[in-house]
Amino acid sequence: MENQRTLYKDLDSILYTHEQLQQAVSALGARITQDYAGKKPVLVCILKGASVFFCDLIRQIDLPLEIEFMAVSSYGASTKSSGEVKLVKDLDRSILGRDVIIVEDIVDSGMTLNFLKKSLISRGAASLRIAALMDKPARRVAPLTVDCSCFEIPDAFVVGYGLDYNALYRNLPDVGVLSPRIYANEA
Ligand code: IMP
Ligand code: MG
Repeated sequence: MENQRTLYKDLDSILYTHEQLQQAVSALGARITQDYAGKKPVLVCILKGASVFFCDLIRQIDLPLEIEFMAVSSYGASTKSSGEVKLVKDLDRSILGRDVIIVEDIVDSGMTLNFLKKSLISRGAASLRIAALMDKPARRVAPLTVDCSCFEIPDAFVVGYGLDYNALYRNLPDVGVLSPRIYANEA
């Protein structure tokens, strides 16, 4: 992309272009519209990684819906999960009796979503589904089924379209594979 050369030079390749992402998000929105016909779901965005995906997704859903935001502690400046999940920002409203869809950027070990799923079920959601932009099933540690993911990806560290490395690259319109030289000095 002409306007973001600075960030693109840190990528090895582009995995999904903005157009491919938009197509997949639109298909997912249509599926949710169909599956939740007659309902008023609550979509929960997991900050910060899912924020870009979330904003595009909700605008492709033709239903009355509510939005909520949650944040959990994540990787920090690392490409590997610490294995510890901590709730940093909770829901603002009760989800008792509601149909809840958790919207996440990427499922890796599955620890984050496992934690969130348990937490939301314990608050009495009527139903709970997980919608993720990307899934890395090869790296799963915690048992977890993703109800709908747009893309299954190989074991690579990706950035862009909301996903970060060391808090950067979220503003890339595409999803790309980060060059390992960027995190070569990681412990
Ligand atoms: P999990 O708990 O190991 O499933 O990790 C999920 C979280 O780790 C995601 O919500 C992302 O924030 C982050 N993550 C996992 N893989 C990647 C990646 O390839 N790029 C950027 N962030 C990632
Ligand atoms: Mg995340």
